[in-house]
Amino acid sequence: MTTHDVIVVGAGVTGLTAAWRLAQAGQDVLVLEARDRIGGRLRTEAHGAPGAEADFEIGGQWVSPDQDALLGILDELELPTYPRFREGESLYVDKTGVAHRFGEELPVGESTSAAIAQLTKTLDGLAAAMDPARPWELDDADHLDSVSFRAWLEQQCDDPVAVDNVALYIGPAMLTKPAHSFSALQAVQMAASAGSFSNLVDADVILDRRVVGGLQRVPLALASRLGDRVRLGQDVTLVEWDEDGAVVHVGNEIHAARRLVLAVPPTLVTRIRFSPELPAEHRIAREHQSFGLVIKVQAQYATPFWRADGLSGTGFAPWQLVHEVYDNTPEGEPRGMLVGFVSDERADAVGRLSESERRDRVLESLAAYFGDAALEPLTYVESDWQHQELTGGAYGTSFDLGGLTRWGAVLREPLGPIEFGSSDVAGHGFQHVDGAVRVGDEIAHRILADAT
Ligand code: FDA
Repeated sequence: MTTHDVIVVGAGVTGLTAAWRLAQAGQDVLVLEARDRIGGRLRTEAHGAPGAEADFEIGGQWVSPDQDALLGILDELELPTYPRFREGESLYVDKTGVAHRFGEELPVGESTSAAIAQLTKTLDGLAAAMDPARPWELDDADHLDSVSFRAWLEQQCDDPVAVDNVALYIGPAMLTKPAHSFSALQAVQMAASAGSFSNLVDADVILDRRVVGGLQRVPLALASRLGDRVRLGQDVTLVEWDEDGAVVHVGNEIHAARRLVLAVPPTLVTRIRFSPELPAEHRIAREHQSFGLVIKVQAQYATPFWRADGLSGTGFAPWQLVHEVYDNTPEGEPRGMLVGFVSDERADAVGRLSESERRDRVLESLAAYFGDAALEPLTYVESDWQHQELTGGAYGTSFDLGGLTRWGAVLREPLGPIEFGSSDVAGHGFQHVDGAVRVGDEIAHRILADAT
């Protein structure tokens, strides 16, 4: 048996941030990661013909200007960033499949524009009044948590195109669930976690920059500072705990510590056995969390052909299989890359197809934006987080109707020597790497405060 001050389970950004802060403060830390790699939901992979491979961001990739916790750690780790390509006009594919070019305003007609502006104002007002770390404290939280986001939008607005567009931004595009399946309160929390609904829907804010070499460099750099304190291939299956500490089991090995950090998504806490068992409320709260589902698709072409046509590569289409698309060409790369997203029920449907049928459907959808040139990529890559037991979906987890007010606070509560956390329980930066850094920092801070 090895003995430590703190054991951290999970080498994603949350766990590694907590571990690095604790190690910097002189604590003896051990990080146990089940996978054979660092980074959890961040992963950069090389794909393409041998000798002509390019890096593809399989998980998270964008950084926004308000994400100061992430920007701070990028600074500290000396990891440079570059802006997303955004010059030129964007595209909007309407319900009939026709692509329209636009500059600032979605080309949806005056009354729909006004309806979207009104919904935006209402959502911005609610988000401004909410502490995203304590959404259940918002006035009217109980009511907002009892009605689905789509039903709430329909109560506010009788323009179906405005409703579909606003539903898209938080449903398929963010929580990656259909807008009828989560509450209006959960939607407002998503907006508040990004500063406002306006920020969340502004691609120039939320998808502002990328990290040179990929966002996985953050956890890789933290892990390299921690050195042999990080151990891979260590699937923690049993935790024995009492008020004085915890003992974790990995196969036949056991490790003990005064404090334990379970830096895994809430849905994966229930994969671990506890002795004594978790109090019912802790278990039930996590059973009511679920991952959204989005398939990130990336297609690389000989050139970024859309740029020659005056297009930025940005496109939205609430009714298309690929509901949003962006230029994802890495800085300095002559070949062009598009990234698109297939979300919620559409991801279920194409998930049942064969690989080649799915690829054809996705490329046809990209062609609805960019024409037939989109049908012939050099390389095509899909991210498959839903098939990985150690994640289970993308981008993150959220509650079903009523869950946030009923169990939201429990997800963040420590239990004896155990701290729980991941970007899924963040306030600011919820479901983003920024939130993972914040939660990791907060946990380390609490443990250090208790140690003095
Ligand atoms: P994460 O899930 O990364 O880490 C948990 C770790 O615990 C994993 O490594 C897992 O293997 C390990 N683990 C689980 N159970 C274990 C056990 N029993 N024993 C040992 N180890 C165990 N964010 C963003 O800011 N910008 C973006 O552009 C995007 N885009 C995006 C796209 C896609 C496709 C995905 C999947 C995600 C994003 N995100 C994102 C979200 C972002 O990637 C995510 O919020 C953080 O990486 C989560 O980090 P955590 O450390 O909290 O969890």
